[in-house]
Amino acid sequence: MLTRQQAVANILADTKYCANDKGQAYAPTNIALAKYWGKRNEQLNLPVTSSLSISLDKYGTDTTICIADTAEDKIIFNNKPMDKNTQLSLRITNFLNLLRPKNTYFEVKTNSNVPIAAGLASSASGFAALTKAVDELFVWNLSELKLSQLARFGSGSAARSMWHGFVKWQAGKATDGSDCYAAPFEHIWPELRIGLCLLDTSTKTISSREAMRASVSSCPFYPAWPTVVEHALDNIERAIIDKDFWTLGAASEQNSLAMHAIMQATIPAVVYSLPETLACMQKIWQARAQGLAVFFTQDAGPNLKLIFQAKDTENVKKLFAQMKVVAPFASSEVIACSYE
Ligand code: PMV
Repeated sequence: MLTRQQAVANILADTKYCANDKGQAYAPTNIALAKYWGKRNEQLNLPVTSSLSISLDKYGTDTTICIADTAEDKIIFNNKPMDKNTQLSLRITNFLNLLRPKNTYFEVKTNSNVPIAAGLASSASGFAALTKAVDELFVWNLSELKLSQLARFGSGSAARSMWHGFVKWQAGKATDGSDCYAAPFEHIWPELRIGLCLLDTSTKTISSREAMRASVSSCPFYPAWPTVVEHALDNIERAIIDKDFWTLGAASEQNSLAMHAIMQATIPAVVYSLPETLACMQKIWQARAQGLAVFFTQDAGPNLKLIFQAKDTENVKKLFAQMKVVAPFASSEVIACSYE
């Protein structure tokens, strides 16, 4: 079986290592509407199913990388040196091990405005920005498609953070991962809004990587998951094309609930929700019963992301005063980079 190092070498096959002074890149975080939950190959980080997300425009990570004159990597996160023994620091170093020439160490300065590890996909934007920055540092000029394949080795969902707007990550079938990459789902929906309800931003107790592994190996319902996602993708893609908001919201919310049902039936159970999470859901269901078009999705953390349309912003804000509102298609850059 192909190792990670061999798979990365295949992606970098036509590149040479020259070096700029530095590489710098921004990547937005993304929220999956049809979720990725479970790997078909742990070593190559290949997902069981395809998934589809929306990028969060100005919520993301900005990273600068240069070659350091030290014998180890130096990572500065949000202006503070990062303790090299933390989980995140080890993940970054392991990822850089796949990309670095021998005896080369880096200074990485990374700034993120996404709360870390609270199910808000901070690692997605982090590894996507790092991959783009390394590409610029070494003047590889890789296509975004190949960059998405590389970013996947840092965090699966990072493959989708290579673009703004809607993005589909193809699971592919090839054992070497060559047909597994993300690409824009080229439709815009300027009225769409995502509300971030931050209920708890402390670090999660179990990483999505460990939790997925446990679900695949022990959840008796896991075999149903690929079909669930296939239907969700069909409905969500059609809803985006037709601008059918109720179908988009309903299919996204249902897919998220199905993923959490799988987590809860995992042995031992994986439960990311807090009492506040359920209270928030109740509020949303009540509002919807009264005609307000608002839905939610939840990832590997207790926070909810609300899905609604611009015209309902004030009414949704009345329910969730602290909510941060994101307009995913607001910046002209979004239009320019993905849809020209
Ligand atoms: O990319 P990871 O390993 O952090 O996994 C992300 C998993 C979910 O956020 C729960 C779903 C998704 O598709 O983003």
